[in-house]
Amino acid sequence: MRDFFENEIPHIHFKDVSFSYSEKKENLIFKCNFSINNSGFWMVVGNNGSGKSTLLKLVNGLIKPKNGIVKCKANIGMVFQNPDHQILMPNCKSELLIHINQNLSHDEITWKIESVLDQVGLTGFEKRPVHTLSGGQKQRLTIACALISNKNFILLDEPTALLDKTSQLKVLNTIKNLTSDQKNPLTALWITHRYEELSYADAVAELKNGNLSNWQEPSKFQYI
Ligand SMILES: Nc1ncnc2c1ncn2[C@@H]1O[C@H](COP(=O)(O)OP(=O)(O)OP(=O)(O)O)[C@@H](O)[C@H]1O
Ligand SMILES: [Mg+2]
Repeated sequence: MRDFFENEIPHIHFKDVSFSYSEKKENLIFKCNFSINNSGFWMVVGNNGSGKSTLLKLVNGLIKPKNGIVKCKANIGMVFQNPDHQILMPNCKSELLIHINQNLSHDEITWKIESVLDQVGLTGFEKRPVHTLSGGQKQRLTIACALISNKNFILLDEPTALLDKTSQLKVLNTIKNLTSDQKNPLTALWITHRYEELSYADAVAELKNGNLSNWQEPSKFQYI
């Protein structure tokens, strides 16, 4: 089931989900069960090759489970490790324009662009050429693109892997602020293999041996 509802809290539910890239191979994801049914900052940690990116592809429907059920009621935006793989246009405003609802009036478009740039800490960057942005600023532009197209659930696949410490913290804080907004909190599922990022999350789980652990508070999180 895959429905899209703007400005509603997303619901994701995995029931006994198994997946392998070929019939012959053993399951990479095996009888995986979890739910996300609240806004907030959800983090999944796991070693290289444990299947984290594969899990995200199952969530956003790019691949289908071999067994089990994936239910997803969300309007999903993606942020990948390398922003250069997803930014298409020469400057921030033109990039945002390709993600916005084109039926809005000129004034509404201008206001929305201003407001999403504010939300990601890029106030006044409308005319800025993309090639002059730092890696972290590019990542925050991709988050702004998700916001301007009214996504209510953002999947981030190791978004800080290529960033230095300062940029890493800015991206983490951007998502932290958006997911803890009082009025209209976003839901974010953030994949990482950096354990030091876990303290930013509301809930943490580890992907290991094809299975996702129970969600835990970061302070109580224990590696399996
Ligand atoms: N399209 C594909 N076809 C076949 N095998 C694949 C494909 N994509 C990924 N795999 C394999 O599935 C396994 C898990 O890959 P995945 O990218 O999901 O792991 P990951 O946890 O995201 O790793 P990393 O931390 O390196 O990003 C790896 O062994 C990988 O080679
Ligand atoms: Mg990956």
